[in-house]
Amino acid sequence: MKMIRPIAAPYSVQPEAQATTDDTRNNRDAIRLFALLISFQGSVVNSTVQFPSVRDFPAKFLFGAATSSYQIEGAVTADGRGESWWDVFARTPGNIRDGSTGDIACGHYERWAEDLDLMKSLGLQAYRFSIAWPRIFPNGRGQINAAGLDFYDRLVDGMLARGIVPYATLYHWDLPQTLALEGGWQVRSTAKAFADYTEAVVRRLGDRVARWATLNEPRCSAYVGHLEGRHAPGMQSLEATLRAAHHLLLGHGLAVQAARRVKPDVSIGIVLDVKPYTAASDRSEDEAAAIRGDGIFNRWFLDAIFRGQYPEDITSDYAAAMPTIEANDMATIAVPIDHLGINYYTRSVVRQAASAAYPQLEEVAVAGAHYSTMNWEDWPEGLRNMIVRIHQDYAPKAIYVAENGAAEPDVVDGDGHVHDDARVRYLSGHLHACVEALAAGAPLDAYLAWSFMDNFEWGRGYTQRFGLVHVDYATLRRTPKDSAIAFRDFLATR
Ligand code: FCB
Repeated sequence: MKMIRPIAAPYSVQPEAQATTDDTRNNRDAIRLFALLISFQGSVVNSTVQFPSVRDFPAKFLFGAATSSYQIEGAVTADGRGESWWDVFARTPGNIRDGSTGDIACGHYERWAEDLDLMKSLGLQAYRFSIAWPRIFPNGRGQINAAGLDFYDRLVDGMLARGIVPYATLYHWDLPQTLALEGGWQVRSTAKAFADYTEAVVRRLGDRVARWATLNEPRCSAYVGHLEGRHAPGMQSLEATLRAAHHLLLGHGLAVQAARRVKPDVSIGIVLDVKPYTAASDRSEDEAAAIRGDGIFNRWFLDAIFRGQYPEDITSDYAAAMPTIEANDMATIAVPIDHLGINYYTRSVVRQAASAAYPQLEEVAVAGAHYSTMNWEDWPEGLRNMIVRIHQDYAPKAIYVAENGAAEPDVVDGDGHVHDDARVRYLSGHLHACVEALAAGAPLDAYLAWSFMDNFEWGRGYTQRFGLVHVDYATLRRTPKDSAIAFRDFLATR
């Protein structure tokens, strides 16, 4: 692994700091700053953060936001939706920090048109949503539920009518409970069921969805669900984790093949969560700990998808727990894809923890850094570094930021505004990082903020607010935060 080197560019400079370089640019910057200060509904965005220019991005670059079905839809029994393992996991006492479920969430299933109107008013160009498998096949496979497909059909048409480009994710963690009872991702048959479900959805929506992703974050599905036990199905077994990880990736490969059978020119890929591991010191033990962390988190999935193999250092560490890998599995997993979506939030600064269990590492806090309410460091350099590294080491045809954002303790003030300055800084910093990745030659073509609106943050329930738009869970009222307004104003300069 290449060790991460800090980069020099300032991410949140005062406008004055650049005032002597280029007059034209300064005028543009002044106009942008002015636009930032004059805000939505008369609110004042209290920020000296300087966004990059939207003209620093290629003309075809798309900006938007992302959500996922279970986190926003609610309506878990509407129109024939089957049960998901997240319904079961969330209602099991002790699993969700605030005792909540996704039963209502943001009420998006009923409010989808209003939500698309709001996206349009903010100038969002693309929207990444996910399809709830249990709405399409209530039992995971077999009888299709037409009403479920109709919902996404209306949603996609609603986006197109508003000029918003649809990015669809086929699996953002809400597995049908019937498949969970058969063994979930621990069994190969779920990979096959996923391909059949993909085929049905692409057959119906493939003529209108611009970009498909098979899975969202197979690493998170496998590890957080089967090793850490914090997500459905709530297990703590390394063997189960590695079986699930392998079958998820196999399902991805089979789904890409299935999608191409019904629509040969489909644009399809996968979304991976990526995170730089920085050694806390230059001691060789700490550097080795960072390499292990990187191998488990990043290389395991990237090597499988782009090279058709799992990384040797980690497979040898995992030797006793490795799953059964059948003859063609790795070739199926490495089927060429059209693009890679990456979800980037933060980095891990680690040192060796000799007395801890494998991978024997512990995280170290960075003095002076800003941490979100998730306790995640705001570190935009990592986004630039990961994009450039993935471009150099794996050469995907196209890369897009499928999720990026921060949870902050947002409150609606007496005037009905949400002054989320930390998120404005986070957004600006990460957009600058995208500009740098583009300058380094990476084929980056979209940036999607996580999230369009506050939502059900899995095991943390409604305690974490990631939205550009605030949601009042008592009334389901949506309020664009200052970050949404800053994003809108940034986009308006195109
Ligand atoms: C990612 C998930 C997304 C959301 C963000 C904060 O891992 O894909 O659903 O929970 O984290």
